[in-house]
Amino acid sequence: MDHSHAPVLEALAAYHDSGQLPFTPPGHKQGRGADPRVKTVLGDAVFRSDVLATSGLDDRMSSGGVLRKAQELMADAVGAEHAFFSTCGSSLSVKSAMLSVAGPDEKLVVGRDVHKSVVSGLILSGVRPIWVDPQWDPDLHLAHPPSAQSFSAALDEHPDARGVLVTSPTPYGTCADLRALAEVCHRRGKPLIVDEAWGAHLPFHPDLPTWAMDAGADVCVTSVHKMGSGLEQSSVFHLQGGLVRPEVLRSREDLLGTTSPNVLVYAALDGWRRQMVEHGRALYDQTLTRAARVRSRIEAIDGLHVHGREDFCGPGRADDLDPLQVIIDITALGTTGYRAADWLRRQHHINLHVADHRRISAQLTHADNDRTTGALLEALDDLVRHAGNLGPAEKVEIPDPAQLRLEQVLLPRDAFFGRVEQVPWQQAADRVAAEMLTPYPPGIPAVLPGQRMNNDVLLYLRSGVDAGMVVPDAADPRVTSVRVAVEE
Ligand SMILES: Cc1ncc(COP(=O)(O)O)c(C=O)c1O
Repeated sequence: MDHSHAPVLEALAAYHDSGQLPFTPPGHKQGRGADPRVKTVLGDAVFRSDVLATSGLDDRMSSGGVLRKAQELMADAVGAEHAFFSTCGSSLSVKSAMLSVAGPDEKLVVGRDVHKSVVSGLILSGVRPIWVDPQWDPDLHLAHPPSAQSFSAALDEHPDARGVLVTSPTPYGTCADLRALAEVCHRRGKPLIVDEAWGAHLPFHPDLPTWAMDAGADVCVTSVHKMGSGLEQSSVFHLQGGLVRPEVLRSREDLLGTTSPNVLVYAALDGWRRQMVEHGRALYDQTLTRAARVRSRIEAIDGLHVHGREDFCGPGRADDLDPLQVIIDITALGTTGYRAADWLRRQHHINLHVADHRRISAQLTHADNDRTTGALLEALDDLVRHAGNLGPAEKVEIPDPAQLRLEQVLLPRDAFFGRVEQVPWQQAADRVAAEMLTPYPPGIPAVLPGQRMNNDVLLYLRSGVDAGMVVPDAADPRVTSVRVAVEE
């Protein structure tokens, strides 16, 4: 296919050139109605290209096939049979993917380290999760994706499960053995869905971890805004093989998605695909070299340790690691990742990605350069010099892996929508949660609706919040009280 074209961008340019005049949404009409103070901040370009997708970018019947052509080019670029653009983030795409495999009361085998958007999908749909434990590193207090063997065992125990969903890479950059997992699924005729929200860049360089489509997955979901050049909310889901029908996937997306997709998001997706096909290899050559240099510079700073493959990969741990997620252990500084991240933003205007009780992480992408990484290194040097002023690490009570494994006694849907009450956290042990309790980022729920809680997990969240953890989805975000199911 001719990847020098970008159908959405070309249609947008034609829209402007031909002087189209909208008597349709959006009501700002290319910004003519927008408050000038808004335009001072956002610029004119955002409004000018914010046009309706049909009877705007394309005609009423979409006869120009603008979106279809852009999606075909995307599929071709990454070696999928079909690609679908979504403007509602992977939060929506992952739900569409799940619902194309399983329906209400049907079983789906799911890694327990999934993002909260998957749990929302379970709540809304009534799909019955069969949880598979991640591979827990008790020394690093970190979960890696579950092993293919664990998924295999779950499928043996639940032969009626409709398919498997795994997250890879995790927000920490660690990857599942997707080839082995695809084999485990396909041996039984089950589809494999990969939540590859953090992996939109993987198809474009051979030294990056294996791309889910290459590993044989049936559906994979990517957030192009996370690691690529997409605008926020841009997501693509990719499909191959005969286990999930494209029209089924499309109908699930139609069920959940907006009827007013943002053309700016489509345009950036289209441009990203062309950029990657034409320049991806060279851009990631440079980015990977830069990442290696930054990693060793950080490692050389006293008190900081950058996690590499030697820490994260191997038997019982992850299969691979995306080196662009630079995960830094700061235990030696005697403070928490929360405090360090806040200090770096306050003092150096550096915003980090994941911060937890003992780590901070910096995400590198093809957009970084000597100036940005230089500023990061300088700020980290300064962090170490000022570590003594940050205040001591408040103790976060990390539970044993066994205590993190909560029994799912009700369907997430039933617990969430059933009768509930709010009880003090000290009284919530042994009660069934009716809400998600999710440290964010990375957004992996520690507790989800329908699970019977224990004291260890509650203490983890309570002590975590006191130390700086954010639990935004809780009815009481300070977790001094918890929403629980009223059991008859
Ligand atoms: C693993 C994973 N899946 C899905 C999502 C949702 O993606 P989005 O923010 O594009 O909706 C996230 C977001 O952080 C994520 O980490």
